[in-house]
This record gives sequence, C-alpha cells and structure tokens, in this order.
Amino acid sequence: MTPALPWWSGTVIYQLIVRSYSDGNGDGIGDFKGLAARLPYLRWLGVNTLWLTPIYPSPLRDGGYDITDFTGIHPDLGDLASFHRFLTAAHSQGMRVILDLVLNHTSDLHPWFQRARWAPKGSSERDVYVWSDDPKRYAEAPVLFRHFEASNWEWDPVAEQYYLHRFLRHQPDLNYENPWVQDTMLEVVDFWLDRGVDGFRLDAVPFLFESEGSRCEGLPETHTFLKRLRERVDRHGRDVLLLGEAIQPVQEAAPYLADDELHGAFNFVLTAHLFAAIASGRIQQLGECLMEAEQAVCGPRWALPLRNHDELWLGDGHLISDEVIQTIRVGLPQGQGHWLNWGINRRLAPLLNGDPRSNRLLHGLLYSLPGMPCLYYGDELGMGDWPGLRDRDPNRTPMAWTPARNGGFSTAPDPLLVLPPITAPGYDYRVVNVEVQKQLPGSLLNWHRRMLTCRRLLPALRHGSFRLLHSPHPGVLVYLRCTEAMTVLVAANVTAAGASLSLDLSEWAGERTREVMWGCEFPPAAAEWFVNLPPYGFNWWLIGEVEPAATPA
Ligand code: BGC
Repeated sequence: MTPALPWWSGTVIYQLIVRSYSDGNGDGIGDFKGLAARLPYLRWLGVNTLWLTPIYPSPLRDGGYDITDFTGIHPDLGDLASFHRFLTAAHSQGMRVILDLVLNHTSDLHPWFQRARWAPKGSSERDVYVWSDDPKRYAEAPVLFRHFEASNWEWDPVAEQYYLHRFLRHQPDLNYENPWVQDTMLEVVDFWLDRGVDGFRLDAVPFLFESEGSRCEGLPETHTFLKRLRERVDRHGRDVLLLGEAIQPVQEAAPYLADDELHGAFNFVLTAHLFAAIASGRIQQLGECLMEAEQAVCGPRWALPLRNHDELWLGDGHLISDEVIQTIRVGLPQGQGHWLNWGINRRLAPLLNGDPRSNRLLHGLLYSLPGMPCLYYGDELGMGDWPGLRDRDPNRTPMAWTPARNGGFSTAPDPLLVLPPITAPGYDYRVVNVEVQKQLPGSLLNWHRRMLTCRRLLPALRHGSFRLLHSPHPGVLVYLRCTEAMTVLVAANVTAAGASLSLDLSEWAGERTREVMWGCEFPPAAAEWFVNLPPYGFNWWLIGEVEPAATPA
C-alpha cells in the first residue's frame, strides 16, 4: 500500500501580510479579525495553505522580520486570543496556516540584545549574538541588503564591539554556537505548534552559522541544527510543514531537503528562469532548471513562488548566471529602473507590463509544475504596486476588495492607513478589486479560481511524476504529469507570437485527448499531433478516458 501523502503535498500556498490584508477594527491596519472575515473568500478562491509573514511584536523596521518577542502577537494585529479564533476558523474551513519564523536574527530592541550589549564581554548574555573586535571577519560573506548597508558588521558603542548582521543593522544575528540560542528557538517552535499552527516558513535559513573563508551560507552546522529542529517538530506527532527560504542554487538548496531535515524549500532559481523565459521567448534553460530540480529532490517538495513581499531576487551571479540576470533586465522593461539590493522591486502585474496573457501563462505553469505553487496576495487580481514607497513597501500595499473608499480594506481615514491603496493608472482599486472581478466571468480572479478547481480535480498535477517531452519549438515547453490513473499533457508558449508545432504522442496513439479547462475534445493522440498556441498561450490536456471528477481527490 502506498503511504498516505502529507497534507502539504501539492498544496497551494497563499502568502499574505496580515497588516495589509483586511482591517477588522477600523484603525487603518489589517488584523486577525479582518483576516478571519476574509476566510470564505480564500476558500472560494481554492487555496489551501495560508502563509502569514511575521505576526510578532516588532518595531517594524523590516516588515516585522525584526522581532522583539517570538511568542507574542503584534498589538496592531490583535492578541493570542484573536489569533486563536482566526486559526480555528481557518482550520474549520479546510485551510492550513504556516507562520514565518525568523531564526537567524532579532530586532536590536529585543531584550536579549539589550541585555547582551550591556553584559560583560565573553559573558553568556553577551554570547547570545555574534560579536567581534574586527569588522573584517567573515569577509567573504556578501552584504545582502547592499542598498542599505555597506558591511555585515555594526559598531555598538555600549558593548564596545562589532556585532554581525547579515541583514539590516538593526537585526543582529543570533549566535547558534550558543546552546541556549538553539534550545530557546526550539522552545519557540514548540510554543506555536502547541497553539495549533501547521508549519513554518523558515526565514533566511542558510545564515545560522558562520565560518571564516566561506560565504557563510548553508554550513554543515546549520544543517545539523535544522535536523535537530526537524526532530523536535516530529515529536509533536503530527504532520507539520517546515519550508525553508534558502535563496541558493538548486544544488545548494537541495541538501535542506534531506529526509531528516526540512520538508520543503523554495525554488528561487526556477522563479528567475520563469521570468527569463518570458523575457527571452526561449525555454531551453527553463527546461534544464526543471530537470536539475527534479533530479536533485522529488518535485513536490519544491515551493514555487513567482513574486512575494521582497524584491524579485536575482542575486550577485551566485544564484543564476549573469547572462540570465541580463536577459531578465533587458527583456522585462518594467524592471529596468526598479533595482533594489540584488533584484527587481516590483509586483508581478507591473513587472509584466500589465499583460494578463503572460500573467496567466506564468501561473498556468506554476499550477501544473511539480511542487507547491505560492500565490502572493493580490496577484490573483493583477494588483499593481506603488514604486517610490520606501524599501519593499511598493509590493506590500493594502489588498483591493471593493471599489469603495480604501478599496474596502479599511474604514479608517486615509492618513491612518498602513500603506496607500493602489490608484496608479491601470491598477486603480476602483477597477482592480475582488468584488468587480468576481462579477466578470473573464477576469483574472475567476481564471485563477477555475485553474485551482481544475488542479484540485487532477491529482496528477498535485503529486504526479514529471517528464519533460521533446519540443520542436524553442519557445514552447512541453511536459507530462502522470499518476498511475491519469496523464496530463501541458504545452506552454513563452513567446509573444503564436506557435504551431507537432508533438510526438505515439506512446498514446489513438487515445482520447481533451483540453482540461473547457473540456473540448482534440483529435486522438498520434505520432504527429498538431497544436496551435496563441501568444503566451498554454493548455492542459487529459490523455485517455479517465474522468477528472471521478478520480480520488
Ligand atoms: C525576508 C525578508 C527579510 C529578511 C530578513 C528574508 O529573506 O523574506 O523580507 O527582510 O529575510 O529577515
């Protein structure tokens, strides 16, 4: 008998920022009360896992990734009781909830850091963070937020030492050499699992340990700690998802997915190649990346994001080649002037110049490739952004619910809003919002819902095997997703021109082929099976007689 699949196998992850999603108490800031009221929408849309960016007390100098208390709720969002009400409601509507957990650092306002800087040098309190008398230590570790920081070290006049911060200077790195740090962070994990959460998105996992002469990423000690974390999670005796954020090449991200380590990891290389494919109209490197990821670990364990709350991270040539970075820079004109740190600071729709065809194509790939597709809130509407806001705030503006004031996000007066709702031309919330798009059968929102429904009815797309087929067209990606009972064929045209091609389906000669979305019949499979795809067009076909609805969910 095949073992039961974990709940997260093939799950669709919806990432949201609670403070930007829905305001339940009218103070201009989204909260758990507001989010709980939106659960029926999320259920209607068809996503099954909610990933909440940090919800903890924080001075919010890095969107909440600067934490002052790992076991509390930021008072803007509610309290533990309102979190609990939300979690119970999400579970009762069939959704799982994973929390962002920042293991690597805290805010400099965290009591641990304040205690550390005043404690004597070499004391156990000081030792909770990473200190040095020499800011040239770990010189090979790149500065990640290069537009904000010139060094990974900051002088602390109270401690009279430098402290390490791989991110912003107000985010000192915890010292994982210190057993107290490890034990305490494991207690944090216990705390949230005891409260019923279903997993964690582990922020910035590669950076937990440092070693001279290396980039200080993914060191063996980091993996040892993550195995300890996994073991601790397993003790809770239920299926929990540990999803790592390691913005690293596939071969370096794969070790996090050892059987006794994390369950899932984001495939950011694939994200970059998806954009590069659109930018260049060619699929060769995308295909190679897919094969590499598939060979490294079995496909369903990769989480597949298009965009998120950060810039579209392309890196310094370590993640993907300079050539691919250049392809994206040149081929996506909307990215040109919006470079932040090592990536492009725009939301999906503006990045694609507002073209719904490429938007659908990229999501069509995401929903049919092996892994856990990640949908960033608002991208289901093609929501825009506000370039010019500070840091990554352009991508974090309030969700557009209705054409009413503030897009239905909040009843508060404008100056109190967490961030300004989008009124940019082409993306104005009076047009681009849930209420309007629900009523338009051809809207992007209704398209997403339909695609997610199809995906639910096709187990092959959720956890079937993956096989790349030979494509006679340089701009058309062709692949199969198969379970024993079902074969789904996918063809996707990444070019801005139409494509016609002939596929060799002799393996299934004479079998019925049906297009999935609208159910239309195609000619039976044959050695020369002709397909026409419009610009940025794609299709999913069922091969054989199996009925989607009749297959086990
Ligand atoms: C998060 C960022 C955050 C950084 C530091 C990340 O990778 O996604 O938003 O600024 O970690 O915590």
